[in-house]
Amino acid sequence: MSQDSSNTGATIVIFGASGDLTQRKLIPALYNLFRKKRLPDRFNIVGVSRTAYSHEDFRTEMKQGVKEFSGETFRDEYWNSFAEHIWYVAGDASKVQQLDEVRKFLESKENGTSNRLYYLSVAPTLYPVIINNLGELNMNGENGSWRRIIIEKPFGTDLETALDLNKIVHHNFDENQVYRIDHYLGKETAQNILFLRFANTIFEPVWNRNYVEYIQITVAEQVDVGHRAAYYDQAGVVRDMFQNHILQLLALVTMEPPSGFNATSLRNEKVKLLSAIPPIELQNTVRAQYADYLQTDGVMKNSQTPTYAAMKLYIENWRWQGVPFYLRSGKALRAKTSQIRVRFQRPPGVIFNTISDESCTPNTLTICIQPDEGIHLNFQAKLPDSNHDTREVDMEFNYAKAFGEQEIPEAYERLLLDALNGDPSLFTRSDEIEALWKIIDPLLSGWETGDAPAVTTYAHGSWGPTAADELLRKDNHKWHLGCIPNGGT
Ligand code: BG6
Repeated sequence: MSQDSSNTGATIVIFGASGDLTQRKLIPALYNLFRKKRLPDRFNIVGVSRTAYSHEDFRTEMKQGVKEFSGETFRDEYWNSFAEHIWYVAGDASKVQQLDEVRKFLESKENGTSNRLYYLSVAPTLYPVIINNLGELNMNGENGSWRRIIIEKPFGTDLETALDLNKIVHHNFDENQVYRIDHYLGKETAQNILFLRFANTIFEPVWNRNYVEYIQITVAEQVDVGHRAAYYDQAGVVRDMFQNHILQLLALVTMEPPSGFNATSLRNEKVKLLSAIPPIELQNTVRAQYADYLQTDGVMKNSQTPTYAAMKLYIENWRWQGVPFYLRSGKALRAKTSQIRVRFQRPPGVIFNTISDESCTPNTLTICIQPDEGIHLNFQAKLPDSNHDTREVDMEFNYAKAFGEQEIPEAYERLLLDALNGDPSLFTRSDEIEALWKIIDPLLSGWETGDAPAVTTYAHGSWGPTAADELLRKDNHKWHLGCIPNGGT
């Protein structure tokens, strides 16, 4: 915690407050923090957007969100005291005069000094103008109280636009005031990757090319693009999921141990790791659309935007040289699951004659990010009453069993709290964003050339295109899902 907010109080200003994210994630997360008494004693939440709401209308909308999205935790008595801290200002923050009205409102509520956390949950095209306006009105200035800004993804649409945006951000804010959010880093199970690796002794010695045969990361979604076609058709699955969530998971699984558990060391190691990923070979990539994607309202008639991608990449460092990493993600798939599967090498078949048999699966460690959060370690056991037959068995850690259902907070809860407490460890630093785009840019531009694999289709509700299976078959491997029944086959 760098600068505590409890004494001076804090105002959380949400730009884009009438949007989905505010109602589904931000207000429910803040409500839960309030319920757990984790917010500063003095705080205000001020929603800003163009829609005309009264304070009361806004509270009513937000109450619906909390009831619907914060699980079992809604209680009228908590809500009523929480709602006293919620305000709304109708205004367009991209117009300096209207933002000035917001500024006056904030000051009227703050009675002198108050820290401020701005949350940019507006269309990304508005980031530059709002950030500049905050600067112009000196709403960025820290004078005895801090000013921080959370910026939602996407941060740029390629390296060049990310560099431009970083320039604007740094013109108005110091890097230590900036919190680029990737909600995957706020998931308990993602944070636990570092604890699994570095708070235990038994995993790390085998966590390298000498013992690991390959690693798969699957982030599968059941939902299709729904009402988000206007954004999604421009972005596609690689910008939407790989540039951020999936590469972040990869970095957590593969980075070197940081020298300390702090933002600088953690982020230094991630940047080092990301910089060791060479350009992804186009023939090691697959892109596809679900069958009825082109019929979605808002999607261009001949759109080539992939809703699914799979790829193989390598990490060129001592630890991972030669180990393939298989990554895949898509929408409209059979089930929702995010998981990381580490497959270890086969033991030498010295004494058991079954050991090289295909039925004898090498050890695997599967980290189930969501749902059914947990970790599974699979290994071989002797089949009882046989001479030398083996059977794969599962040693399981399950969050719900170990900690109880309610113990996993939403990612946004953790991230908002960290931002209030001044801990940017789980946020993406400017050089990290740039390193991420350096991996993605050549892939996206490669896909525009004639050498790129064609966009194929897959059935809604399937596990993706056959080309993705083929990608692994060439290496004698298969996709496997350790966290759902029957391995997702
Ligand atoms: C968002 C993407 O960042 O992550 C969405 O923009 C995606 O397209 C979502 O659905 C997935 O998040 P989660 O937490 O449901 O896995």
